[in-house]
Amino acid sequence: LVRDLAQVASPAGSGTPLRGADLRRLESIEHAYVLCGDGAIEGVGRMRDLPALEGEVEEIDGSGLSAVPGLVDCHTHPCFAGDRVHEFSLRAGGASYEELHATGGGILSTVRATRAATAEELTAATLRHRGWMRAHGTTTFEGKSGYGLDRDTELVQLEAVRAAGGVPTWLGAHTVPPEFDGADAYLDFLLADVLPDAARLAEAADVFLEHGSFDAAQARRYLVACRSAGLALRLHGDQFSECGAIPLAVELGARSVDHLEATGPEGVAMLAASGVVGVLLPASALFLGRPMPPARALVDAGAAVALATDFNPGSAYCESLPLALSLACTQMRLSPEEALAAATVNAAHVLDRGDRCGRIRPGCRADIVLLDASDWRHLAYHFGGDVVHTVIEGGSVVFR
Ligand code: NIG
Ligand code: FE
Repeated sequence: LVRDLAQVASPAGSGTPLRGADLRRLESIEHAYVLCGDGAIEGVGRMRDLPALEGEVEEIDGSGLSAVPGLVDCHTHPCFAGDRVHEFSLRAGGASYEELHATGGGILSTVRATRAATAEELTAATLRHRGWMRAHGTTTFEGKSGYGLDRDTELVQLEAVRAAGGVPTWLGAHTVPPEFDGADAYLDFLLADVLPDAARLAEAADVFLEHGSFDAAQARRYLVACRSAGLALRLHGDQFSECGAIPLAVELGARSVDHLEATGPEGVAMLAASGVVGVLLPASALFLGRPMPPARALVDAGAAVALATDFNPGSAYCESLPLALSLACTQMRLSPEEALAAATVNAAHVLDRGDRCGRIRPGCRADIVLLDASDWRHLAYHFGGDVVHTVIEGGSVVFR
């Protein structure tokens, strides 16, 4: 039992992602309690309506605190070795992310370090990164492979994400490793030699659709094969340029298309008219000094959007969803209510967990973040601050 909370705030929910004006529909209760049992939420209400409880009840004092659902990070790259702090310095001196990528740095430098690591080291790194995420209120996370780009390392990455409790996504088509002569030859290998096992370990497949990685025809080939193997589909699209990611995502019925920093008005309209969720990654745009995605236009056009960190060593070394919420409000003009729904229930829908994660309501998993503020909006307002007080995951305190 979490008692005497100043406020409990939860997005509304339904069987599908919230879109357009529904993103603002927040349910909030003042002077409230949340009751959990067997890892699930059993009741939420006003303190004065708290029923008499029988048996031994573990109590957490929520005085002065507010509660929001455990945050859901639906786009991260948490399984890697090494870091890219050297490139960070180069970028500070004027080098661009795309230039570093084109000269064999960028993603490929993390691929070299990741291939050289053992399975134990990669699992330990993923667990360490999960710990960082938890400390910022994330109770459910997706984790991509994509730093192996060979059979064994890709599968080890998916296993490491799973072992850390994450939702694994196969990003075999992240970029073309140097031992292959072009993207088509690499895809031949991926689909023949890796997909059968990746499909067993992952829930979704993802592709980086961008100049220098995969074009729309190659992305279609990869995604169609992955869909046939039972995987849900995701795309990294419109990060630097519009290469056809939104039309492809809509055509194939993808769960999401992620990034969208380069998306123009036609893409906004097409995404808004579809069932594909637009995943906004403002920490990545900020970290690379890129324009923010057109989040306001998307929501106003009726799109379903989610918000994630994109945690990775190159384009977003940031595990904080509260910071992403803050950027959503200050840089993309979403309201705190819209940002919260995007980083909870809608992100959960992207991971096919919208029925049980991302809301504080009976029947959902007991994933709750207590904030060190009596008004939950401090989650976005206190930018870069220590707003997370306690994290409860499946009914257990995992961070305090
Ligand atoms: O989402 N753009 C492609 N992939 C990642 C970055 C990966 C990396 O730089 O290591 C992203 O930004
Ligand atoms: Fe990413």
